[in-house]
Amino acid sequence: MQIKTVGVVGCGLMGAGIAQVCAAAGYKTVVREVEDGILRRGLARIRTFLDDGVAKGKVTADARDATLGNLAGTVAFDDLADCDVIIEAIVEDLQEKRATYAALERIAGPQALFLSNTSSLCITELASTTTRPDRFGGLHFFNPVPLMKLVEVIRALTTSDDTYQAMCTFAQSLGKKAITAPDRPGFIVNRLLVPYLLDAIRAYEHGLGTLEDIDTGMKLGCGYPMGPFTLLDFVGLDTTYYIANIMFEDYREPAYAPPPLLKRMVLAGRLGRKSGRGFYTYQT
Ligand code: CAA
Ligand code: NAD
Repeated sequence: MQIKTVGVVGCGLMGAGIAQVCAAAGYKTVVREVEDGILRRGLARIRTFLDDGVAKGKVTADARDATLGNLAGTVAFDDLADCDVIIEAIVEDLQEKRATYAALERIAGPQALFLSNTSSLCITELASTTTRPDRFGGLHFFNPVPLMKLVEVIRALTTSDDTYQAMCTFAQSLGKKAITAPDRPGFIVNRLLVPYLLDAIRAYEHGLGTLEDIDTGMKLGCGYPMGPFTLLDFVGLDTTYYIANIMFEDYREPAYAPPPLLKRMVLAGRLGRKSGRGFYTYQT
């Protein structure tokens, strides 16, 4: 299976990072957003990340230019027609993802692989909504994509051996370490991480300590790179809320239930860094 051209659907936090690493690995990459303004902001984040990388001496100016040269943005699904692989990284919502695959089915070649970056949805269910359940799988990246080395590779019950091999090879070609995770809500990493983050919110609601003290405790006491509230703001409180609901619906265990405060913060538009305010406040 020859992969030359990659399509990415969604240029938010994750889609932008995924498009960047695909373009950096030499794939012609087309990223699709719903509207021009969001697309421009996503592409600008990629440019800033690459410029910062050059300033820090981590990326050469030639590599930055080559990455940007491999990258195109669009708001039209038609521009993904020639892609060998299409990675979906849109909002964590089953109906939205189904509608996206339906639109992709109309333009994608019959051999194209469809991969989802979902954090928690059932890969077998997503695959079953397409006409290519054998050429569908989960490829779960971590935020920030250009810096995090891991990718989880998830097979649906229907994923063929060839597709699974192609997913592993593709992840490695992006410079990532691939691990195989089961098609269970949260796969491996979120199965362990999400209850921890939700528990931190519950503990905070019960007066465990200040946000700063809890974050400092986990950073300096356990060596975590970010405390739980910094990480929640980083991931996005909306995304965390969607993930928790999906995991809770499947596992039916209290550990996955979204705490009342999380729901209220999402309803109030406090989504974390991306909206300028979550548990903390940010300059946008
Ligand atoms: N280009 C290239 N390299 C860059 C860069 C850039 N623009 N910016 C930073 N780097 C490099 C730095 O030079 C540094 O490299 P060295 O280690 O070789 O020195 C490294 O990246 C770390 O950068 P910083 O020192 O600037 O930043 P940091 O030490 O504060 O680390 C972080 C930043 C990697 C994000 C770290 O805070 C971290 O790991 N946080 C936790 C992130 C996490 O847990 N992500 C998973 C979220 S859950 C998820 O994704 C799944 C889901 O489904 C919700
Ligand atoms: P985000 O809100 O930052 O971005 C989602 C983007 O998708 C938005 O820009 C939105 O405009 C766009 N979008 C919605 N419908 C679209 C469509 N039909 N076509 C093109 N674009 C569309 O969300 P995110 O954090 O990037 O999450 C995206 C996916 O990645 C979710 O499935 C999430 O669970 C998963 N994920 C998130 C993280 C994280 O840390 N945030 C980590 C791993 C995986």
